[in-house]
This record gives sequence, structure tokens and C-alpha cells, in this order.
Amino acid sequence: MSEKRINSLVPPEIMRNTFEFSNKMRTLNSERAEKKGRAMYAFVLTFGCQQNEADSEKIAGMARAMGYDMVSTPEEADLIMVNTCAVREHAEKKALSTIGQFKHLKAKNPELMIGVCGCMVTQEHRRDEIKMRYPYVDFIFGTSSLHRFPELLYEKTVKGKRLFCPEEDEYLVAEGLGINRESSYRAWVSIMYGCNNFCSYCIVPYVRGRERSRLMEDIVGEVEALAKDGYKDITLLGQNVNSYAKDSDQGYDFADLMARLSMIEGDFKLHFMTSHPKDASKKLIDVMAENDKIARHFHLPVQSGSDKVLSEMNRHYNKAQYLETVRYIKEKMPDITLTTDIIVGFPGETEEDFEQTLEILKEVRFDMIFSFIYSPRKGTPAAERIEQVDEKVKSERFARLLATQNEISLEKNLPFVGKTVRVLCDGPSKNNDELLSGRTEGNKIVFFAGEKSNEGKYLNIKIDRAEAFALYGEKI
Ligand code: 5AD
Ligand code: SF4
Repeated sequence: MSEKRINSLVPPEIMRNTFEFSNKMRTLNSERAEKKGRAMYAFVLTFGCQQNEADSEKIAGMARAMGYDMVSTPEEADLIMVNTCAVREHAEKKALSTIGQFKHLKAKNPELMIGVCGCMVTQEHRRDEIKMRYPYVDFIFGTSSLHRFPELLYEKTVKGKRLFCPEEDEYLVAEGLGINRESSYRAWVSIMYGCNNFCSYCIVPYVRGRERSRLMEDIVGEVEALAKDGYKDITLLGQNVNSYAKDSDQGYDFADLMARLSMIEGDFKLHFMTSHPKDASKKLIDVMAENDKIARHFHLPVQSGSDKVLSEMNRHYNKAQYLETVRYIKEKMPDITLTTDIIVGFPGETEEDFEQTLEILKEVRFDMIFSFIYSPRKGTPAAERIEQVDEKVKSERFARLLATQNEISLEKNLPFVGKTVRVLCDGPSKNNDELLSGRTEGNKIVFFAGEKSNEGKYLNIKIDRAEAFALYGEKI
């Protein structure tokens, strides 16, 4: 192991500290549970991206180790943890209003502990806001201090004083925290943390620190265990997975990691997100094409079709370079599902710039897009610009973007009618309990009739109807 790499692990003495506080809290909780005549309950609420979902599974894992049973409503809980997001204003507003609703729970039960963590409270102004305006929040910690959760919870419980973990922890990698996985067949595996790119609109580099990668052997161990436990869908996570291990001198890269993970035995598919187009290498695309363990799905956020906007976004690629990567992906894997992220209304975006975004949708013909209205983020360069696009113009462009993409998505889904696809079943559909839902390898959602007991299984579905956002069919 190289010097450089060892330095990005949380030092063993700090991890020992975490486990000691966890044990102390466990002892305390077993006494409390005995008094109450019931288990101690914890509820974890997550806002934002998959990285946050993965962090929440660690928070729940630590809570379990401290003697809590997990519950699915805040009303039942003795401990509420809110893992927040900062990527857009909407996510922050939602988190703040939800935290606001917990006030009455605390009033009813003064022993209730409320902790807030994640990207939103890694920002100074939001920490201050929680401190001043949400006095019933017991403790706060940012994204660099996930492993301090047991310490903060224990100290607050024993001493009673509110705790605001200062943002002084270095951004490192904490190995060995327990994980309480939500699903028994889909799993998240973080392979790296942080981001070095500083896209001019994005808050992530400010709230998740610089890139640091886990060791390949640690990731291989985790994926092997998941495969052995029967997990079918394993998604590797990082803000920019294509720069995996570039922060170290281990001599391997993301493509090597994918090739190594593909050698693990088991009936599972590997997914990954998110890829930055500037770093999506031919080597990676070749490895994907050669390994059928890797799902035929590529999420490659383009953000805009205008070279001027891409440059102002500090994306380090232009439209032609992006299209060349897409061409190579399609050449190597003609059956690939391609998805992307788009931002509309970036400062200075003109009608012509926006039309170029519509143009790139038509040229690439993505299966699906995740589209966002630009949201100014305090402290990012784009938020300082005076040429902010009018809200009305933003909404109008957003609607046109969706209309254009809906047509393409439908056209891409129609050829599935009459074909049989393999899906991983997710159980009853959220909106219609008469139907089950599942996802194809390319992450397309499929609805069909069947027994709830199919959840977590691979099924063959013959498609008889296609819409822009979903396929419908029959189990065969
Ligand atoms: N406003 C709108 N969308 C944003 N994204 C990131 N930052 C912002 C912002 N300030 C989008 C990008 C990114 C996705 C996860 O969120 O499209 O790829
Ligand atoms: Fe939200 Fe981005 Fe943080 Fe994920 S990384 S939780 S999307 S701000």
C-alpha cells in the first residue's frame, strides 16, 4: 500500500474511538430498553442522491450497532436522523420543512433525539440556521464526520448539551462502518467520495471534499460478500467514478476495477454512476463491452448541448467530444441504454444555446433524461453571475425539453413491444398495487401482473405496451 493511499483512510485510533462510543451507547440503550420494556427505535430519512442513500445505510448500520431497531415512521422513533442534500434549493427547502415538522414530536417526547447530517448542513450558513431556528435539533455533523455519529449521539444523550460537530475533520475514507442495507437484492457500493471538478454550478465539491478512493481489495471484498448473499444488482457509486484511484498511485483505474469485479462469481449485474464525460475512457467502454456482468446502461451527464455553456460550466469537453464518446459506446454496445442529466437555464443561456441542447437530445436519442432547472447555489461561481435566466423562461424551456424528450423516449420504447425482456422484480408498484414493477438491465421500468413473492427475482416479461416512461407486459 502506498504512503499516499494510507493517508486517505480515517486513522485507526479515530475508528477505535467510534467503536468505543458505539459500545457505550449500546450499553446505555439496553438499559433504557429494559426500563421501557421495548426495543429502542431509530428512523433515518434521506434526501438527495444515491450517495446519500448509501451514507444513510451506514447511519442505519451504526444505529443498529448502538442497539436501535429501525422503524419506518418518525412517530415511533427514539432517534430521528435526517440526511440532507444541497444540490438544489428545492432539496434544502424540503429538508428544512420536514425538520420543522419534527418540532411537535420533540414537544411530545423530550427524550427524542434528532440529528441532522449530510450536504446541506456541511454549509456554514445552513448550520447556523439550524442552530438558531431549530433549537430542538440535538446534533449536527457534516459529510466528513459520518464516523463521529456514535460519539455525538452518546455525548448529547449523556451531557444534554447540543452539539455542532465543527467542519474540521479531514475528508477521508472510513472503512468498517456497519451497513444496514435497505434491500436484499439491490445494493449500493461507494467506491470513492468527493469531487475535484468544480463545475461552476455545483455545490458538491464544497460539501463533499476532494476525491478519495477506496482500495480495490476493500471493494472486491464487499462485492464478493454481496454476490454470495444473493444480491442481483450492485451499483458502484462515486461523484465521478471515471477518476477512481487517480488520487492514489496504486497502478489501477476504474476500468481495471470493473474488469476485476466482473470476475466475481454469481448471478448479478454491475451498474455504476456517475460518469464524467471528460474521463469516460475507451478502455472502460471496451471492458464493458467484453463483460456481460456489467449492465448495458451508461449514464453520461451532458448538462448542455451548447459549447459556450459547457465551457462556462467548466465541464472540460465540448459537444463534438461528447458525441464521439457516445458514438464509440454505441459502436461497441448497440443495445446500450443511454441516459443523461440536463440543466436548463444556466446563467447566460440564450435561446440558441437552449436549442443546441434540444439538438443534442435528438442527435444522441437518450432513452431517458434527468432534467433540472438551474438552481443558484451559494458560494459557486455561476450563482454570482448577473445574467441569471428569468424564472418564466426557465420553466418554459424546461417544458419544451420534456416534450422533446418524451417523444424520443416513446420512440425508443416502442420497439420493445412484442419482445421479451429480463427484469429484476421490485414487488408491488408504488402507484398501482395490482401490478408489480421491475427494471431491465438498462434500468427501464416495467409493469406486469404477478405475485408479490416475485420480489427480488429475475423474471422474463413479454412486452405488450410502451409509454415514454414505462413498459407494460406479461410474465412468461
Ligand atoms: N442546479 C440544477 N441542477 C444541478 N445539478 C447539479 N447542480 C445543480 C444546480 N445548481 C444537476 C446536474 C447533476 C445532477 C446530479 O444535478 O445535472 O448532474
Ligand atoms: Fe445532494 Fe449532491 Fe450531496 Fe448527493 S452529493 S446528497 S445530490 S448535494
